[in-house]
Amino acid sequence: MGYNCRKFPFGLWLRVLSNPSQVVLRNIELFESKNVLLINHECDLLATALLEDAAKVTTLALDFNHFQRIKSHENARLQCHFGHQLPSTQTFDAVVLFYPKSKSLAPYLINLAGRHLIPGGELVIVGEKKGGIRSITKQLPDYFDGGIKLDNARHCMLYSSSLQSEAPEINLSDWVKAYVLSTPQGELTICNLVGVFSEKRLDEGTELLLEHLPTLKGRVLDFGCGAGVITAALLKANPDLELECVDINAMALASCELTMAANGMQAKVYASDGLTQIQGLFDAIISNPPFHDGLDSTTEIATRFVQESEAQLRSGGIWQIVANRHLPYSDTIAQFFNTVNVTAENNKYKIYANRKA
Ligand SMILES: C[S@@+](CC[C@H](N)C(=O)[O-])C[C@H]1O[C@@H](n2cnc3c(N)ncnc32)[C@H](O)[C@@H]1O
Repeated sequence: MGYNCRKFPFGLWLRVLSNPSQVVLRNIELFESKNVLLINHECDLLATALLEDAAKVTTLALDFNHFQRIKSHENARLQCHFGHQLPSTQTFDAVVLFYPKSKSLAPYLINLAGRHLIPGGELVIVGEKKGGIRSITKQLPDYFDGGIKLDNARHCMLYSSSLQSEAPEINLSDWVKAYVLSTPQGELTICNLVGVFSEKRLDEGTELLLEHLPTLKGRVLDFGCGAGVITAALLKANPDLELECVDINAMALASCELTMAANGMQAKVYASDGLTQIQGLFDAIISNPPFHDGLDSTTEIATRFVQESEAQLRSGGIWQIVANRHLPYSDTIAQFFNTVNVTAENNKYKIYANRKA
């Protein structure tokens, strides 16, 4: 490998970088004196490590938590962004694309990378073998060359390909699946961008939640809003609600905004990891909360959500979620709300509904 051990205490980086980032760093000579863009990067400081050789580094995180990790390290040679696209049409000598956990998002990110490369610029794609990286050469569109494998280490693979011709302009409507949904609250148009939860069909848990939505008033939080299905149903039932929708994922937030626009509805849609960005108290918090973190299943986010959301409710405020029935919610709910009320259930899901004392 061309990794230059004179410059880096590599052992130190091993402890703080994800596996895909370590593989990029092993190949740092690819970025010597280059202006580099990282797309969909990991929750680490690879960007600062690359500055040892690269002229400049720009990052685009699709996960708000990953953006927050690097943001405070911004300087004249490091610019950090969160979103589904960059705020400008700037082009780069090289783009490093971290293969997404959701395979259907990959073509969008490859197109985005193509839009931000100079003619002949280099696309470097890295990903874990258990994801979809193995077939990347078949996934590359014809504006990139065939691609070659450069590295295989730490359960990851790294490929390179150069831009052969101009990549097509990105029009979000080409990447969205809009469908009409009949709900107990009425007909809704749902806009799902690639890679967003329940991309193909309404989630069965969300469906059960919509069948048992409480009558609400005032300020309501939809935690982990995804494409905004729950918010759209709540606003259909009561257009006077003041809805706030949060999600960690940039594609979800963009989808939620499209869903709001498609239904002529309004909500405040913003990024948050857990409830960290939320201010003030709510009359209700409604959610189909996440239980996956990337490829790993975890209840940690959900547990944190129960703890934090109780504190964000007004006295008498309504808290209602749907969860897979095998998830161990009861203890945490009992701990923070004193009682556990299961108001509906089927063979897969339970609706937990509580009021703050
Ligand atoms: C089970 S999905 C529900 C989506 C949508 N509410 C629905 O019912 O179709 C959970 C959502 O939570 C988001 N999410 C995951 N981790 C999060 C976190 N730490 N903070 C906020 N949102 C998160 C995911 O991006 C996903 O959109």
